[in-house]
Amino acid sequence: MKDRGYYGPFGGAFLPEILVATFDELVARFREIKNDPAFWEEYVSLMSSYSCRATPLTYAENLTRHFGGAKIYIKREDLNHTGAHKANNVMGQGLMVRKMGKKRVIAETGAGQHGVATATMAAKFGFDCTIYMGEVDVLRQRPNVFWMEQLGAEVIPVKDGTRILKDAINEAFRDWVTNMDTTHYVLGTACGPHPFPEMVSYFQSIIGKEARKQILDVEGKLPSRVYACVGGGSNAMGIFSGFLEDPVELVGVEAGGKGIASGLHASRLCSQDASPGIAQGYKTYFLQDDDGQMKETHSISAGLDYVGVSPILARMHDEKKARFEYATDDEVVAALKLTMQKEGIIPALESSHAFARAFKEAPEMSKDEIIIINQSGRGDKDIFTVADAIGDPKWKDFIRSKAGEYND
Ligand SMILES: Cc1ncc(COP(=O)(O)O)c(C=O)c1O
Repeated sequence: MKDRGYYGPFGGAFLPEILVATFDELVARFREIKNDPAFWEEYVSLMSSYSCRATPLTYAENLTRHFGGAKIYIKREDLNHTGAHKANNVMGQGLMVRKMGKKRVIAETGAGQHGVATATMAAKFGFDCTIYMGEVDVLRQRPNVFWMEQLGAEVIPVKDGTRILKDAINEAFRDWVTNMDTTHYVLGTACGPHPFPEMVSYFQSIIGKEARKQILDVEGKLPSRVYACVGGGSNAMGIFSGFLEDPVELVGVEAGGKGIASGLHASRLCSQDASPGIAQGYKTYFLQDDDGQMKETHSISAGLDYVGVSPILARMHDEKKARFEYATDDEVVAALKLTMQKEGIIPALESSHAFARAFKEAPEMSKDEIIIINQSGRGDKDIFTVADAIGDPKWKDFIRSKAGEYND
């Protein structure tokens, strides 16, 4: 019987018949590379010469002193080339695409980080590149759209549905169905049909492998807890995978938006608003109504604003292998400000969810304990959203005068 990638009741590959052969080929190629230690070596060597790996594990001395509890370390995925963990996945898939002999890549993107990373990979490997992005995300992440286009990618704003990440994924699948022979779909997170959850987690596991070694080198012991934000789940799977066999508590932090009670959030695993269902080719917890229609989601961070979640994390949730919490938009902006001012580090809004939750828990932990926060990306891309949330008057003046320069 074929392995269709189930994680307990979750996962699988619910595909239109036309895509089955393409997925079979993908599974076979992925099995080959996963069983080939030389591929992993080639991947690590590429990432160390092109993307600043190993990324540092930074001791957050000032934040630790500020909270007076557990020692806080930050895994610096923001220092990857293109500014986020997304590079780990796209470069791995890029190497695979080259081996498969395909010449075109497509991708969906929410925050734009995965889109920029894919456009970068396509430029480096010489592939044609099309990026699908919800129209709402195009508006809130314009700087990333600009860079994707400058890198040579075509960015297609998706005007269907609620015009965010889930709609971009649907559109990317539509493209793939018509262009399977030439095209590979570089899915950006640990979701979607098998083998994507396993494959994306495999490439992201470089984070956890490094982090585990780094903390043992510097502290001689493991952390008590590891925090990661959860959109689709790829950075969380990446860092968690280093500690799965250890007595380490894994904490996934979802987008609490304007609060769980408001309904305006994207919390699938720590709210009562999601239920198991099948969509976009896989089974997981979806924020859906009783008729299986996807609900509207909200988050200050485009990258966490998604209705589904990795089937691997869904199983870990049900089996209590990880704990899931949420952080609200307001808590996230406060955590971001504090991290900037205490450490001189600017986390992405997505990553700031993990910081916000860790900051709630660290003061109650003992000084002997250690926590690691996965900083999945850097916050420069969020300048418009953060400046709005903070309401900085000087920024508003700057935008007005800049806009004036374009008026004739
Ligand atoms: C910086 C950053 N962190 C986290 C995420 C969420 O994705 P995932 O849950 O797959 O790590 C995104 C998605 O765009 C992102 O850009």
